[in-house]
Amino acid sequence: MVTLQQQRILITGATGQVGGPVARQLATHNTVVAIARFGDAAAKADLVANGITCVPVDFETGDYSALEDDFDYVLHFAVAKTNDFDRDLAANAESLGFLMQRCAAARAFLHCSSTAVYEPDGHRRFVETDPLGDNHRAFGFMPTYSISKIAAESMARFGARAYGLPTTIARLSVPYGDTFGWPLFQLAMMRAGHPVPIHIDGPSEYNPIHIDDIVAQIPALLKAASVPATIVNWAGDDVVSIEDWCQLIAEHHNLEAIFAPTTATIASVACDTTKRASITGPCTVNWKDGMQRLAAVN
Ligand SMILES: NC(=O)c1ccc[n+]([C@@H]2O[C@H](COP(=O)([O-])OP(=O)(O)OC[C@H]3O[C@@H](n4cnc5c(N)ncnc54)[C@H](OP(=O)(O)O)[C@@H]3O)[C@@H](O)[C@H]2O)c1
Repeated sequence: MVTLQQQRILITGATGQVGGPVARQLATHNTVVAIARFGDAAAKADLVANGITCVPVDFETGDYSALEDDFDYVLHFAVAKTNDFDRDLAANAESLGFLMQRCAAARAFLHCSSTAVYEPDGHRRFVETDPLGDNHRAFGFMPTYSISKIAAESMARFGARAYGLPTTIARLSVPYGDTFGWPLFQLAMMRAGHPVPIHIDGPSEYNPIHIDDIVAQIPALLKAASVPATIVNWAGDDVVSIEDWCQLIAEHHNLEAIFAPTTATIASVACDTTKRASITGPCTVNWKDGMQRLAAVN
């Protein structure tokens, strides 16, 4: 069993929505070093206040000379979304390779990928071997996202084999918690009276996963790291539609959930979670409880 206590952990993307709570939680029992650009001084100050050492690194240049290399585990949550293919491939793929090279002595490397790597296929429950594609193309706002995440997975696969670095590539579905996530964004839309976009091929289905489960599942995902890399859907136990979770959140606030069916949004990406469950066991936060919590604190 991987026990994340008294370990030296490098985390990227710790100023982000997902990496932030993970870093703060791990810092209670480990030595945590975070790398990011730290353009947000308040976000950096919060990490430092939690005992986390912050080392500035820009993944677009991939210069790790200021970084020590003696980490037990590496958790890679950073993602660049500049919408420029050259910059995002450099930051998300090339720099990942250099990071794995730098940290090749680690016991395990967790690369956070996305279910945005799957080629849309209606209401199929995607398994890890399913075809990949540009899932975000229709969305319009993030043209580089799917392709650079697929490129990053390729680099993580290379890094695992080239450096003998046990690696897990975990394809995250819809992460959320009390303070962040797609459902919170949709609550803001509903409060403002804006219709929530859903795909015309409804219902718009995903596997939301609560940050408590994301944090809790990291030791098991690291234990499952292997050469070649283990690839797994990091998705919650239940397939839930945007329509259903928005309805639940709207009812809590006496709002009306209005939906706008469109082709210009992300299509369903419902996942088969058999492999993840075999690695981590079941999730602990039922989606209704998690969404109620989100609704109650916002
Ligand atoms: N949020 C979702 O709905 C979702 C869904 C599926 C998968 N994921 C995956 O989950 C992971 C975390 O996502 P998130 O939503 O937490 O991301 P986020 O909130 O957008 O944060 C991105 C992080 O990456 C860092 N970063 C961006 N460009 C960088 C650069 N050039 N150099 C160094 N660091 C850079 C940012 O730090 P600085 O700005 O301080 O540099 C920040 O800490 C990503 O791998 C993402 O693909 C997210």
